[in-house]
Amino acid sequence: MRVDLQQAVRLLKAGNVVAIPTETVYGLAADATNDEALCQIYAIKQRPMDNPLIVHIADANQVSHWAAEFSPLAQKLANAFWPGPFTLVLPAKLDVSLIVRADQPTVALRVPAHPLALQLLKESGLALAAPSANKFTQLSPTMAMHVTAGLGDNIPVLDGGACKVGIESTIVAVQRDDWQLLRLGMISEAEIESVASKASSMFSQPIKAPGQHHLHYSPRTPMRLFSSRDALIASANVYSAALLIGEGLQPACQIFQLNKNATDVAQQLYDTLHKMDALNTSELLIEAPPNAPEWLAILDRLTRAAS
Ligand code: TXA
Ligand code: MG
Repeated sequence: MRVDLQQAVRLLKAGNVVAIPTETVYGLAADATNDEALCQIYAIKQRPMDNPLIVHIADANQVSHWAAEFSPLAQKLANAFWPGPFTLVLPAKLDVSLIVRADQPTVALRVPAHPLALQLLKESGLALAAPSANKFTQLSPTMAMHVTAGLGDNIPVLDGGACKVGIESTIVAVQRDDWQLLRLGMISEAEIESVASKASSMFSQPIKAPGQHHLHYSPRTPMRLFSSRDALIASANVYSAALLIGEGLQPACQIFQLNKNATDVAQQLYDTLHKMDALNTSELLIEAPPNAPEWLAILDRLTRAAS
């Protein structure tokens, strides 16, 4: 069911979950200090309890409520990339819910760049834990209707339109003056390196990113990834549907074609996969993107979806 901003504020303050828009994907949000509300997120998603949640905050001033350490390097990255599709994993304060951080010594924080999400954070005065608003391992939602299709109409959804970035945030762990990439996203490793003025490095205490399951972001229809258009065409038949990136020869099956532009493909990727899945064909044939840095996050999602 759709809710407006004021209803969303009321529901969240009362300890309920609400699906909210962000610039990356829709999140299934709850008060990050309310363990009962947090447990509802895990239950609705059927997500294992050892897979920690990202805490969304209104601005970088809130970091000190959650992180035991906000080093100059972490501050530099926050200044450069917040609000935006960028999550910082920092050492957690001891009083941060063990449910939200799934017993990790760290907490994941992000200031989203979506006007409705920011308004919600400010008006509620809450920090919102929000994983993607889909069942565990399934496709992430980038439109309100994807949330309803995946989780049912009982979930309250704040509709903020189509997500502009379209794939999940880049996740970076920072300890003192070292950083490490935990999940690829549209903010690239090179951009982080340039702001950090140094390459990523290993921590003395290894950091875990639970929940980076191999099988993830998956449509229900079996899906295969092809590194060449010719191989894809050779595998196509009337029972398949194909996702093509850019112009060129076309297979003899239902076709979805995206521009050969990484920003555009990221934005449309999940919606296109949701549509292809709904066709109930026997197989989805996906053309792999070019082998270049700006495509890495998209290739990561497609590889997991196809595994
Ligand atoms: O763009 C996004 O990040 C979206 C929107 C809603 O903000 N959220 C999202 O959440 O993708 P989710 O639950 O699908 O992925 C969160 C991932 C976890 O699977 C885990 O790998 C990592 O973030 N994570 C969260 N807390 C962590 C922690 N304390 N230490 C290490 N990794 C953590
Ligand atoms: Mg997810």
